[in-house]
Amino acid sequence: MKTYSIAAIPGDGIGTEVVACGLQVLDAIAKRDGSFKFKFDHFDWGGEYYKKHGRMMPVDGRDQIRKHDAILFGSAGHPEIPDHITLWGLRLAICQPFDQYANVRPTRVLPGITSPLRNVKDKELDWVIVRENSEGEYAGVGGRVHQGSPLEAATDVAMFTRPGVERIMRFAFRLAQSRPRKHLTVVTKSNAQRHAMVMWDEIATEVAAGFKDVTWDKMLVDAMTVRMVMRPETLDTIVATNLHADILSDLAAALAGSLGIAPTANLNPERKFPSMFEPIHGSAFDIMGKGVANPIGTFWSAVMMLDHVGERVAAGRLMRAIERVTADKRLHTPDLGGTARTADVTAAVVDAIHGANA
Ligand code: IPM
Ligand code: MG
Repeated sequence: MKTYSIAAIPGDGIGTEVVACGLQVLDAIAKRDGSFKFKFDHFDWGGEYYKKHGRMMPVDGRDQIRKHDAILFGSAGHPEIPDHITLWGLRLAICQPFDQYANVRPTRVLPGITSPLRNVKDKELDWVIVRENSEGEYAGVGGRVHQGSPLEAATDVAMFTRPGVERIMRFAFRLAQSRPRKHLTVVTKSNAQRHAMVMWDEIATEVAAGFKDVTWDKMLVDAMTVRMVMRPETLDTIVATNLHADILSDLAAALAGSLGIAPTANLNPERKFPSMFEPIHGSAFDIMGKGVANPIGTFWSAVMMLDHVGERVAAGRLMRAIERVTADKRLHTPDLGGTARTADVTAAVVDAIHGANA
């Protein structure tokens, strides 16, 4: 029987709660399928690890997970540790060296869930945001000088390379091509950012020439927020820089009903390194330990993971199980306006996996 090795890194806050549920659901889907199974290895990296060891993960951490088929990640973020340390010490310390340059964030209004947009019908909000995940505003270029003096200065330089932009554009056009609408929106800010964003636009035009069957348009990021709210049905696949897509994907998740549902895949499309799957929501310390975190974002991320390892049938089955559960309002967690608990939702998804129509 095929065995997939999965590195589980729950991280901080509700990450530990939702990843545990994610593993339960993955086991259930493997059992239901019968042709593969999972081997989970657990890594206790994150804020608590930092408090003991002064770093978010061990020096050889990446080597410990390099050979795994995929990584299931919870979240990094701890109230006692500055956010830039938790981010750069764990999540980016995995994403960037493992060259997970394509961050894929699907957004849909799932059955039973109400979008805050008046009148939006589910089919009218069905997007995939492709976030450049290796450079741009998150390149880490910059510095700070004269701290504590009135002359203090700091820079954060957004760095874009031609190969980096070309590969994310190609990935986005290919993804758009694989979807029924075959439409890509390239988000930019080349009116104000007159160097890198102008190169970004030029490369989009060049790459588009190789995808004649894909229609595409260009949107300034500020106008894009308006279009997402006012004309969601005109969008399908979206590509944006690291920071622009970070912001737009939070808006997208909110428009689809809750940040608690939104999944993400950090892909190394060439498969030289493992890819990493995680819910978007973050560590949410305010609700930690209460048993009310929404595990759907992790389950949907698990669907993306199944797809990535090639288990398409199981991926489809898990997505249908998730949708059957969201369709039942009694199984909504508080972020969706309900009173269900993390464990109720998980048990219902496991039941749906084993159910008659699964
Ligand atoms: C995301 C998150 C992260 C980001 C945070 C937790 C640093 O918001 O995945 O969208 O900004 O990349
Ligand atoms: Mg974000």
